[in-house]
Amino acid sequence: MLLILIIHGFPYYALMNRFQNRLNRAGLSNGLNWKPKVASINEESFNRTKLTIYNGGIGINEFQNKKDIFEASFGRKIEAITSDELSPEYTVIMFTKNNWPKVVKFSSICNNINLHRDHFILGHTLKGIVTQDINELPHMLIAGSTGSGKSIMMKEVLVSLMKSSPYLQVIFLDLKAGIEVQDFKNYPNVSIIKDMESAVYVLKRIKTEMDQRFSYLEQNGHREIVCERDKMDKILVVVDEASVLYMSNYANQQAMKLSRMARELTDSLAKLSRAANIHLLLATQKVTKETIDTHIQENISGKFCFKTNTLAGSVTVLGNGAAYSLPDIPGRGFWSHGHKLIEVQVPLITSEEVKQFGEKLVEEYKCGSRKMLQAKINLEPNSNSNGDSNSDNNSNNNNQSNGPKNYKVEDVCIKQIEN
Ligand SMILES: Nc1ncnc2c1ncn2[C@@H]1O[C@H](COP(=O)(O)OP(=O)(O)O)[C@@H](O)[C@H]1O
Ligand SMILES: [Mg+2]
Repeated sequence: MLLILIIHGFPYYALMNRFQNRLNRAGLSNGLNWKPKVASINEESFNRTKLTIYNGGIGINEFQNKKDIFEASFGRKIEAITSDELSPEYTVIMFTKNNWPKVVKFSSICNNINLHRDHFILGHTLKGIVTQDINELPHMLIAGSTGSGKSIMMKEVLVSLMKSSPYLQVIFLDLKAGIEVQDFKNYPNVSIIKDMESAVYVLKRIKTEMDQRFSYLEQNGHREIVCERDKMDKILVVVDEASVLYMSNYANQQAMKLSRMARELTDSLAKLSRAANIHLLLATQKVTKETIDTHIQENISGKFCFKTNTLAGSVTVLGNGAAYSLPDIPGRGFWSHGHKLIEVQVPLITSEEVKQFGEKLVEEYKCGSRKMLQAKINLEPNSNSNGDSNSDNNSNNNNQSNGPKNYKVEDVCIKQIEN
């Protein structure tokens, strides 16, 4: 205690004493009648205090069972009680000044807000529900440890964007073939890609689409694609588990080459596609120059970061350690855009909700209340790359629910992609 007094000064010493007395009130002790000891108190942010306790072998369940008593004793709301990730002999109690919900339902948010055109839902914040205009980004990264909520966020971003954006085509790349992507398999305006060759082919195809759009803009003296005027859809390329695409770890020349091509193609899309109305949404567990190229990172202005396993992880994404000190609550993260850094609880969307919305979309495309402005971007390997991208022909809009086609190496050899 003398050491604490010398290092931190009297106010901190007094605070520790106060916290120790309140901790004692909960009556926790081990078999030797030894009471847990306050190890440190940190103000993690303006609304969150982290109390670290040396637990002397008292299990996490015993602490969690006393949550109500701790709240009454400390007079503060508890957000989470967890074991310290690196040293299990320490238990962490995270206090919060806000009454943050741990789960926010997608359906209840949708019922309570009016989504503006091209906006998607970020989630619950201190200032209420926050949405984001995709045109302001135009690219976005979702990062965070496994199980923190990246795939759920992708789903809710996609569904909310489809609610607000009438002319949207989505290319969904999921090389880990997660089950989530299956929820979109009947969406008429979504193409699902699950293997490396197809993914690189598709990126190449989107790059061609971008180049065509630039020529069109130049010829017509426009600065950017406006969906209705130019009869072109907004295109969103979504990559879940981006590290699988960009950092192929197979000891295989071809896979390495495909990975490099995927990085180069994504780089040119990230750099230029703003005016072409083409957007990227990448999710990854780790953000390093190997998983997401530094050039690509530089062109992504919207970053969402769930809890990270390391301080460095949070610093790489957000420029500070905020996401490292988050409590272990799925769906809780920080949104960083420009100078903004806001804490958000992302809404939880269920597979049923995603599928139900897909059924509604099928109906809307069928009866014509929703339509694509151009034919679905043609992802067939041997298609004419001039495609029908400027055609008004919507005839194939209704027969796209047969699911995506996955290409084999023999369909799309590297030579073909390079040409
Ligand atoms: N926004 C959320 N609200 C509540 N629970 C969530 C939320 N997001 C994720 N979860 C929970 O965490 C689990 C893992 O989420 P997931 O999105 O698959 O994580 P990741 O893709 O980061 O590995 C989900 O199955 C769900 O139970
Ligand atoms: Mg995931």
